[in-house]
Amino acid sequence: VSAFPHEHQNFLHCLPEHSSKSYPISKVVYTPINSSYSSVLNFSIRNFRFSKPETPKPLLIITPSHVSHIQAAVICSKSHGLQIRTRSGGHDYEGLSYVAYRPFIIVDLINIRSISVDIVNNTAWVESGATLGELYYRIGEKSRTLAFPAGICPTVGVGGHFSGGGYGFLLRKYGLAADNVIDAYLVDANGMAHDRESMGEDLFWAIRGGGGGSFGIVVAWKVKLVPVPALVTICSTIKNLEGDAVKVIHQWQYVANKLHEDIFLGIVLTGGNTSTQGGIKKPTATFYSLFLGKVDELVATLSTTFPEFGLIKKDCLEVRWIESTLIIASGVFQTVESLKPLLNRTPSTIDSTKIKSDYIKKPIPKAAIEGIWQRLKAGDIEAPQLVFVPYGARMSQISESETPFSHRAGYLYKIGYMVGWKGQNLKAKNRHISWTRELYEYMTPFVSKSPRTAYVNYRDLDIGSNNKYGKTSYKQASIWGLKYFGNNFKRLVYVKNKVDPHDFFRHEQSIPTL
Ligand code: FDA
Repeated sequence: VSAFPHEHQNFLHCLPEHSSKSYPISKVVYTPINSSYSSVLNFSIRNFRFSKPETPKPLLIITPSHVSHIQAAVICSKSHGLQIRTRSGGHDYEGLSYVAYRPFIIVDLINIRSISVDIVNNTAWVESGATLGELYYRIGEKSRTLAFPAGICPTVGVGGHFSGGGYGFLLRKYGLAADNVIDAYLVDANGMAHDRESMGEDLFWAIRGGGGGSFGIVVAWKVKLVPVPALVTICSTIKNLEGDAVKVIHQWQYVANKLHEDIFLGIVLTGGNTSTQGGIKKPTATFYSLFLGKVDELVATLSTTFPEFGLIKKDCLEVRWIESTLIIASGVFQTVESLKPLLNRTPSTIDSTKIKSDYIKKPIPKAAIEGIWQRLKAGDIEAPQLVFVPYGARMSQISESETPFSHRAGYLYKIGYMVGWKGQNLKAKNRHISWTRELYEYMTPFVSKSPRTAYVNYRDLDIGSNNKYGKTSYKQASIWGLKYFGNNFKRLVYVKNKVDPHDFFRHEQSIPTL
């Protein structure tokens, strides 16, 4: 306590006054003099761009083990003029869950991560600090034929992921993670705890896709589990430029969003230094598919609906859905011996990263695909990745206003542009970020317009941000808000005004008050 900045001493005394005596909060509070402070801070940092000595650090970190700790953190931060950054899995691409430019604390939900799966009612309660891998593992433990439609990387946290939508290979059949949330437990800006009924339908709507960190701290989510066959088919097919990749990618745009809802067929383009072979950089296109059925049926269906693709049985595996999540995440297409890696919270590598996103409404010409290909070959870039995610099917049936996530009917697919590089060297950072921005610029004529839309979970501060200090006007926030949420942005601002009029939960892209 003595080493804590004098002006914030009262904050420390406030915390125990507002939390349960049976769960002493002092056990889960880390100030910079605590020997575990740095390891607790760094454990869930997933982007080294925001882990430099000069990156602003929190005054303290709380890792609540009881909901009253979250309530105390909110009440005391509010009364002492501190900001809160809530962290679940720490995957925010702009580090917004653990960096702020005003005195702040981190509420890190790493200890709030229990999962209870109910296979009688096909539902689960999952706490925000759980990872997607933990959720999938617990579902797989109880059932071969139940699943949950969420993201691909198992270390992603439930809290941020569900808050921004959350897509994975089941999105064409079942929509986003947020589309399958049926109740939630949340601590609001006054430190009050609510379930769906007491928070009201406006707030319940806003937290299912309106982006994390704006409306409160979601402690837990009740989700609907979805049926899958006992065996599903996954395939991975690599194509390159010497072959017919450009032609097949071009044709894919006309087909992928119209395929049967049981088929997901996405593409990952890779290039850069990592795919250097014999001194020549060889970008490749990997087509990933998940089919809710047997391999023979998938091969037969695609041979008529997408003959140019030429899927062969040898590129596919029939596995349980739970196994498919691990195989797809690892990128190594072979059967797995243990599902335990799904429980691992730490990814195999952690790099500095940058991401941008786009949505496509009209197929892009072959020349544009060739232009992308050229850029994947050029420049000293370590690990560029372009992810093409097909929409259609269930995604087109859900109305634009059902949840804040507005990119529904009319969208053929989404592109994520990602780069990752080792270390924190400034030159490397500038080179990689410039490469991504140049590619984004190049894509302008081919992607959605007025506004050019983007995915909030692929957080990108290039598209606009709130003022670091002082209020941000509705007009200024609309620049990025309309891109992420379309016409839903207005309703998000209305909800924010209603539930957090003093703008307590804020960050560079939090929903502003009026
Ligand atoms: P993190 O803890 O950083 O939180 C993200 C944001 O939500 C922050 O603003 C934070 O304050 C807020 N927040 C966190 N917990 C909250 C809570 N309990 N209540 C309220 N606000 C909260 N996306 C996708 O749709 N499909 C995918 O397959 C992938 N794959 C993927 C792989 C990798 C390696 C990365 C880095 C990211 C993805 N993503 C993704 C994007 C991912 O969905 C997005 O970054 C999520 O917001 C991450 O959630 P975390 O809880 O991990 O992040």
